[in-house]
Amino acid sequence: MPMCGIAGYIGRKEAAQILLKSIRNLEYRGYDSVGMATLSEGELHVKKGTGKVSEVGEKLNFTTLPGKLGFAHTRWATHGEPSERNAHPHLSTSGKIAIVHNGIIENYLELKEELTDASFRSETDSEVIAHLLEKNYKGSLKDALLKTIEKLNGTYAICAMHAEKEEIAVARNGSPLAIGIGENENFVGSDVSAFVEYTKEAIYLDDFEIGIITPDSVKVFNNEGRELHKPPMRINWDLEQAQKQGYAHFMLKEIHEQPQIIRDSLSIQIPPLQKPNKIFMVACGTAGYAGLVGKYIMEKAAGIPVEVAPASEFRYSSPIIGEGDLFISISQSGETADTLAALRLAKEKGAKTLGIINVQDSTIARESDTVIYTRAGPEIGVASTKAFTSQLIALYKIAEKFSGQQYPLDSLAQKVQAVLDSEGQISKIAEKYFKVYNFLYIGRGFNYPIALEGALKLKEISYIHAEGYASGEMKHGPIALVCDEVPTIAIAPEDSVYKKSVSNMQEIKARKGKIIAVATEGDSSIVQHATNVIYVPQTQEELYPFLSVVALQLFAYHVASLRDCDIDKPRNLAKSVTVE
Ligand code: AGP
Repeated sequence: MPMCGIAGYIGRKEAAQILLKSIRNLEYRGYDSVGMATLSEGELHVKKGTGKVSEVGEKLNFTTLPGKLGFAHTRWATHGEPSERNAHPHLSTSGKIAIVHNGIIENYLELKEELTDASFRSETDSEVIAHLLEKNYKGSLKDALLKTIEKLNGTYAICAMHAEKEEIAVARNGSPLAIGIGENENFVGSDVSAFVEYTKEAIYLDDFEIGIITPDSVKVFNNEGRELHKPPMRINWDLEQAQKQGYAHFMLKEIHEQPQIIRDSLSIQIPPLQKPNKIFMVACGTAGYAGLVGKYIMEKAAGIPVEVAPASEFRYSSPIIGEGDLFISISQSGETADTLAALRLAKEKGAKTLGIINVQDSTIARESDTVIYTRAGPEIGVASTKAFTSQLIALYKIAEKFSGQQYPLDSLAQKVQAVLDSEGQISKIAEKYFKVYNFLYIGRGFNYPIALEGALKLKEISYIHAEGYASGEMKHGPIALVCDEVPTIAIAPEDSVYKKSVSNMQEIKARKGKIIAVATEGDSSIVQHATNVIYVPQTQEELYPFLSVVALQLFAYHVASLRDCDIDKPRNLAKSVTVE
């Protein structure tokens, strides 16, 4: 789901000041470019630029925009890199219509071809909406909008203004849009964060509905133009709750966004890649563990040798890398200092470089020869969850590209949803363990990296010491730690190493160690080896990481929640480690 933020205002006050505040409250939805349009005395005024609201707001001085109606937009680019010309609002050829849009217009290229007399200024999909409205406008913005949405395939939340009309027209399909009802003024927002400080009354548009908003009236119509009766609903969130969509923490919201992130990530395009002699997968923390899963899948599917290293080690070791090798950096922020330094070293040594990055135009993205952008949207929680999942999708798609194999990735979203649906059982298990001081996490094969990632999640948000190990390593030392006070999470789905995983569990149980097993739904025998079981749906062996990691994200979250930790901003941590 492309995350952009839309805010609108129409009333008796100057719009710009209100819009600036509203769009700031939506910045958590996306922030690589921002723009604003207001209407005053029959003329549209537009300012827009790249960067965060605060940066661009100062630079462009949004508050000088005149007029008592307008809208603003923060962009999280999906089509067209962040730039002034790609920032919203977009204008029609005559400049008499302005629009902002959140969503993806899938048929924008064919629409562009039909709009032969339109002069396009951007490379976005959204701009076609402005030109279509102009083509369809015969004096009524409502009618023009109804004709326009008929032609659009894809998702949209749209705000539009025509210079001749003191009204804001809105439309929605697939991307959220709410209308805030005030006294002689009305508001628009991608979610109620945009206006909950001004009014607690909101009308939520449903798919294929449009609205025409003036200071004193809000009319909603279905896509045949029939007026609908949609009484306002009471908003019972404050601003912070609204930004979290009602979840207690951004991290929990982002864990629950993962089915949608998977669906969005399936459309990630893998550019042409030359099959390398060797791949180096280099990153930090959670991104590094995604790279380790990447090693397993790349070697198994494509038979390409893969070396994985934490970026901080890669850059200070003497890596044997050069022409013909592919250096893959993975980074949510695209700003991690160690990863950037490792990238520069790899380039110096002549390797091809590919970045799997979440933030558009970030430094690592810009310095990589090729970039694959993940589709996680802004990740606010310091502990990475949905970005990890999107990184995995990108890695599996690269493995598919190199190997010609196909994985049933489109089955993942509903399987991950099934894990999320078992959150109640997982939080009950967390209640039994949130007071412990040490945890072991073990996994084999594709789930070994998930043991490391699961342990990291617990460490960073609950401050419980946790170690991830390859299950087979237990008897080479760590099993000395096993006792009644040191529980183990054993990732043991029904895969090719299941029997080995079970024998590891028996060794632990024999030494009085409690075990939480992550197992395949329907595996009833596992209960004799485990104290508690978290079930995940059956899937192809290579895909268990997508399911086991969500179970462990939820477990860590609920343990940390029971310990009253600052889950979104854990002590000592930063979202992006831009220093060594
Ligand atoms: C993960 O939960 C941590 N926040 C941390 O390990 C993070 O993954 C690491 O710092 C890498 O960040 P990046 O993906 O932005 O490069």
